[in-house]
Amino acid sequence: MRVLETVAEFRKGRREFVEEFRRTHGRDPSIGFVPTMGALHSGHRSLLERAALENDLVFLSIFVNPTQFNRPDDLAKYPKTLETDLALAEHARVSAVFLPSDGQELYPDGYRYRVSETEVSQRLCGLSRPGHFEGVLTVVLKLLQLARADRAYFGEKDYQQLTLIRGMAEAFFLDTEIVGCPTVREADGLALSSRNLRLTPEQRETAPELIRAMTEVSDLEQARKRLDEKGFAVDYLVDERLPDGRRRRFAAATLGEIRLIDNIALPEENP
Ligand code: PAF
Repeated sequence: MRVLETVAEFRKGRREFVEEFRRTHGRDPSIGFVPTMGALHSGHRSLLERAALENDLVFLSIFVNPTQFNRPDDLAKYPKTLETDLALAEHARVSAVFLPSDGQELYPDGYRYRVSETEVSQRLCGLSRPGHFEGVLTVVLKLLQLARADRAYFGEKDYQQLTLIRGMAEAFFLDTEIVGCPTVREADGLALSSRNLRLTPEQRETAPELIRAMTEVSDLEQARKRLDEKGFAVDYLVDERLPDGRRRRFAAATLGEIRLIDNIALPEENP
């Protein structure tokens, strides 16, 4: 597994992998790409496994993207577990890890050029995290341009993000297929997230109440009340239909300093 630290190295590395594959197999490889911010967990592993199953080569990026954080303290405290990330990647048969060593490597323009979306990005997390999705879409477009993969894999836990990335790929005629993968959960139901590493033991015990309230209580007001009582500060808890047409229940709530999000598919209402 190669670790490539600059845009130039990643471009060159990609070319070399493709040429080597061509030489040995007599055809072009298919490429699967998994963009991440590191602190990898079994959810990321499942994306890498799917990518390995569906493609000849798998590329992973690890970059804590500053432009998608609307609070400097949140960016500063984002968990970093590089050594175990690289071991997980190696185990998942990743060919190359793009690991920009410098926060500016992906922003030679100083973030003057941005991708914005005007509808889906203004709802749910977009309301309380101004600029977040602009940062996500901008960095994902840059990464997709560099990886030039056949398929890129994203978790359904960040469903609004996935919807926006799919929409961007369609709007800009990108060649990469955007593949959504199911949320991976702990045995007690908590959706895996890198931020879970920052929960205190007490908060970790309370955290699965989020998915319990979402699934066990059909009345949204009651569910919100239950979460309030458990010590969550609920940002939103709503049933919405995003442009992919499926009705889902979305929630975001903060426990102490840690913002948790989750979503589930809802059965379609009878006409
Ligand atoms: O979901 C994430 O980890 C990030 O938002 C992403 C897609 C890697 C962009 O920085």
